[in-house]
Amino acid sequence: MKNISRRSFIKWVTLSTGVFFTVIWDKMVSRQGMIKIHKKIILPYNSNKKVTFYHNFIVVNQKNRPEALSSHCTHLGCIINREENGVLVCPCHGSEFSLTGKVVRGPADKPLPHYPASITPNKKEILIES
Ligand code: FES
Repeated sequence: MKNISRRSFIKWVTLSTGVFFTVIWDKMVSRQGMIKIHKKIILPYNSNKKVTFYHNFIVVNQKNRPEALSSHCTHLGCIINREENGVLVCPCHGSEFSLTGKVVRGPADKPLPHYPASITPNKKEILIES
């Protein structure tokens, strides 16, 4: 049997451990992505309301086409639950977003994320993919 030096052994163990954790990390990250892609939520839908607030989403009717936005403010994550004069207002620090999710006033500096949304055939529910 071949003798290996202590230095070679430590290099081998370090390299093996690095490869092991890299593979585990990659599996965890790709699994998270798959879960996100397959998450679908059905919520009640009212085509007569311009803006509807749900816990995690804001649905805005834009020319008979609903748009789903995240209701989590991009500043520190508070739930946006109010619309004033066509602007979505965060209750925590006053950030304002347009009905398309763009920042109108900070401190938030990123727009609200959009999610694919479609109305179900019975037109009473909305399907949101997040
Ligand atoms: S969390 Fe919305 S403005 Fe700070």
